[in-house]
Amino acid sequence: MFRPVRGMKDLYGVSVNKYNFIIEQAKHVGAKYGYNIISTPLVEYTEVFQRSIGDETDVVSKEMYTFSDKGDESITLRPEGTAGIMRAIVSEGMTQSLPLKFMYYGEMFRYDRPQKGRYRQFHQLGFEHVGDKSPYTDALLIAMASEILGAIGVFDFKVLVNTLGDEETRKDYTKGLVKYLSRQEANLSDDSRRRLEKNPLRVLDSKDERDREICAMAPLISDYLSKESGQYFESVCELLAKCGVNYEIDNFLVRGLDYYSETAFEFKPTDFGVKDSFGGGGRYDHLLSVFGGPDVSGIGFAFGIERLMIMLDNSKFTSTPAKIAVIPVSEGETEAAFELVQLLYNCDIPAEFLHLGNVSKKMKVANRLECSIALILGEEELKNGTVTVKFMNAESGALKEKVVNRNGIINFLRHNI
Ligand code: HAM
Repeated sequence: MFRPVRGMKDLYGVSVNKYNFIIEQAKHVGAKYGYNIISTPLVEYTEVFQRSIGDETDVVSKEMYTFSDKGDESITLRPEGTAGIMRAIVSEGMTQSLPLKFMYYGEMFRYDRPQKGRYRQFHQLGFEHVGDKSPYTDALLIAMASEILGAIGVFDFKVLVNTLGDEETRKDYTKGLVKYLSRQEANLSDDSRRRLEKNPLRVLDSKDERDREICAMAPLISDYLSKESGQYFESVCELLAKCGVNYEIDNFLVRGLDYYSETAFEFKPTDFGVKDSFGGGGRYDHLLSVFGGPDVSGIGFAFGIERLMIMLDNSKFTSTPAKIAVIPVSEGETEAAFELVQLLYNCDIPAEFLHLGNVSKKMKVANRLECSIALILGEEELKNGTVTVKFMNAESGALKEKVVNRNGIINFLRHNI
């Protein structure tokens, strides 16, 4: 028997209901804030990710699904959505229309170690606001993210915020960090020793226990902030408080992708037993120019949809819409029942045409499908131009069955479902 590829899941039933609910709510809130939907390809040329996310990140160095296609081009299944959107803004000639606001959702791929809430194919719901830099924009984006969480019924969360500063800040900080880490070099993992040379900031997101202990004592970016970056971050925090966002400053937050600058944030459940964040994002000052666009700043975030789904209560997502079963008693009534089900569909009434097996089998199927009404057509009904309406879940004392004229059946159903 075939199973799905490790770390990849089939979505059906409750999961699909949750997924659709999350997207619907996000579309509603996103439209209010002026975001338009964009859908970029699942694959991009590998360089799109290498150049933007950064060669020394875990995502690029360990987790990408990269292949040579039949034309010997190196292509990669997208590990995230931001890079492809920046590429699209430039290659679709949208740079004339900046600032732009995009919402996106769909499959992402990372060759990660699978566990609860961590998959190799997963889904993100993301937002990007490109071509505008101001603490107001940052605060509104984070407030919108919080509003989406409220709309799907997630309230027990915190937004951890930090600043990664501007270029000047990161240059000074990198010097300080290298000085500190070089003293500990002998105790660092091989990966971190390499990163110390190529991209020292990435040592900070090492998962190695010893590296983490060393990094816990490392200097903080907040001690190296330029005056402008310090003020910018202060304004963002003040505005977040004004928006009523439940935020907390976390000076250790660095994010795992290279393109970030200034404001960075992550969403965590307040139950800190769950260690992974279910969303994250930040500002990126030069990402569009990497793809040949103007050097304008942007900000965005993405939620992991599977991680949001874990926080939603299954019992609220099991219901199927009120359905009507159309049941011919025997072969002789099948054609009339077929016409009846077509009539229901033409009137936008959800229905099931149950024509296989004997009546008791058809009734069993109607029960399993959780149909609330069965429309039964037998010899008698055919002769009299009627339909027997059976209320499947009628409580004792309530109407269980009613014979209705076929001409009036649509009106009757409209008043009874
Ligand atoms: P990220 O933090 O790498 O950011 O991913 C965002 C979210 O995707 C995570 O918080 C997590 O919920 C989810 N996620 C990541 N990896 C997995 C996985 N293996 N399985 C399940 N869920 C996962 C980004 O991707 C940035 N593009 C966000 C962004 C948008 N920054 C600016 N704009």
